[in-house]
Amino acid sequence: VPPGVRRADPRELDRLAALWTALADHHAAFDARFALRPGADEAVRGLLAGWLRDPDAALFVSGEATLDGYCAVRVDEAPPIQREQRRAEITDLLVRESERRRGLGRALAEAALGWVRERGVDRVEVRVAAGNREGQAFWRAFGFGDFMDVLDRRL
Ligand SMILES: CC(C)(COP(=O)(O)OP(=O)(O)OC[C@H]1O[C@@H](n2cnc3c(N)ncnc32)[C@H](O)[C@@H]1OP(=O)(O)O)[C@@H](O)C(=O)NCCC(=O)NCCS
Repeated sequence: VPPGVRRADPRELDRLAALWTALADHHAAFDARFALRPGADEAVRGLLAGWLRDPDAALFVSGEATLDGYCAVRVDEAPPIQREQRRAEITDLLVRESERRRGLGRALAEAALGWVRERGVDRVEVRVAAGNREGQAFWRAFGFGDFMDVLDRRL
């Protein structure tokens, strides 16, 4: 784990929920499909508490009383017909705006990749919104490339 990065503690659920909401707000700002419903806070806390208990997931954070960023990662079983048995997904990555472009995003993502490697898993996916310019630039600079396009259509 890079310096300044550590596993999240279940006692800091409130701080994590604040960051999670900031990540959702970042997405909602460029695409309304990501908007949270009013009163989602309790559900956010429940979701995060579930990840903290899940042995197949890990949450890395940076900062103390105020968290500067977090990264969520999990390992999943691949469909049983595939040669690949397990793969990982980084589901969330956020660095507080005032702390960006200092290497923290990369340090958090490295911590997540280290955790994945320790599990003997050798491939990781990340879903990045097409309109998320920072996210697209970050992951591509970090060596991630195109794999799937998620298409949608309003009915
Ligand atoms: C994406 C994000 C986590 C990056 O965090 P960060 O701490 O600023 O990233 P780093 O400082 O480790 O950047 C590493 C490299 O990524 C690339 N990069 C990061 N942000 C970039 C930007 N806005 N534009 C272009 N390249 C960028 C650069 O190559 C950078 O290296 P450099 O600073 O030496 O040029 C941060 O911008 C963020 O929280 N954005 C909002 C949430 C988000 O989009 N998360 C991703 C969801 S999938």
